[in-house]
Amino acid sequence: MENKMKASAFLLLLCVILGSFGICKAGGQIKEVVEKLCQNLGIVGKLGIGNEDHAKGLKMDYYEESCPQVEGIVRNITWSKVANNSTLAAKLLRIHYHDCFVRGCDASLLLDSTSNNTAEKEASPNRALTGYEVIDEIKSKLEKECPNTVSCADIVALVARDAVSYQFQRPIWKVPTGRKDGRVSLASEVLPSLPSPFADFPTLLQNFENHSLGINDLVTLSGAHTLGRTHCTLIAKRLYNFTGKGDTDPSLDSDYAETLKTICPVPINPATTLEMDPGSSLSFDSHYYMALNQNKTLFLSDSALLTNPQAAALAKDLQNFDDFLEHFKVSINKMGAIGVLTDGKGGEIRRTAELSILKSSWF
Ligand code: HEM
Repeated sequence: MENKMKASAFLLLLCVILGSFGICKAGGQIKEVVEKLCQNLGIVGKLGIGNEDHAKGLKMDYYEESCPQVEGIVRNITWSKVANNSTLAAKLLRIHYHDCFVRGCDASLLLDSTSNNTAEKEASPNRALTGYEVIDEIKSKLEKECPNTVSCADIVALVARDAVSYQFQRPIWKVPTGRKDGRVSLASEVLPSLPSPFADFPTLLQNFENHSLGINDLVTLSGAHTLGRTHCTLIAKRLYNFTGKGDTDPSLDSDYAETLKTICPVPINPATTLEMDPGSSLSFDSHYYMALNQNKTLFLSDSALLTNPQAAALAKDLQNFDDFLEHFKVSINKMGAIGVLTDGKGGEIRRTAELSILKSSWF
């Protein structure tokens, strides 16, 4: 018993020392062993060890010495673009998500296809993505100001934050940086990595868990659908042929279904789009959760959130904007850390957003 107490005291001391020197965040085997021990002692949160585990080597002000103007440049260009075209906020946020869920946040989404490789950009879920030109413009400016320093992956993460934040005229979440750019981009990896809008709850959760995200992140990040538009083609089945008998999905509010049918009449025009959060699709707010709780969201993957009690309870709470924002700050940072290539983990600083400097030797 006495020995056990001594061992615990030693471990506690070890955790405090390593924690205060930041060694627990340094990566590698020592970190893993110590974190496990610290977790066993139940002191993980108190020391801050593990709290930033999802940051996986990213840090605030990574470019403080090498390119202090990076955040200003990204914000100025992004804000001027969004000021001219408010639909860009949705597009740039979605680019960040589609980048991170496929091969991690490594800007692999931006790479162009080559004669013998079809890149992520060309996979069906990515074909409707636009807004890449904003990232290209920022990358060119940064290459002039701080050549070979700022990764495209960091630019994508910063741009998403700034595009959404324009509405508030202040950054609404923090973006730790230090990502490197990947060199591989495969269209074949996109569909298996991104959840389908027809997915049920267990499938969605499994997909998020595959990306080290949980129920809270699933519910919170789905709130990004407060911004933007979709196509009638993606909701036609719910409206006109839900079970193959010409019926409408009963989980969709029936009056709303009738409204949607007037926006998306048969024959479905593949070019017709509609707001995902009616009346406020240009505003980052918590209306998505209000619509969700009234059975007025467009995708099965949205309404599926109500089929799990824990997710449904959170979806109720997140109708409050302050609560949504607090959750979103955490979950978007976890998303922004998926599979990141940080110092010592490979990757490169790409010279232009679309081209890997090593591309010719890789494909
Ligand atoms: C939970 C799983 C998700 C599914 C099944 C899903 C699916 C979709 C689909 C099908 C569209 C419409 C595409 C189109 O009509 O062209 C869409 C749009 C969008 N998604 Fe998601 N998404 C999910 C999660 C996310 C996440 C995590 C984010 C960001 C953090 C996000 C951000 C957006 C945005 C902003 C749009 C609107 C884009 C625009 O207006 O151009 N989505 N999503």
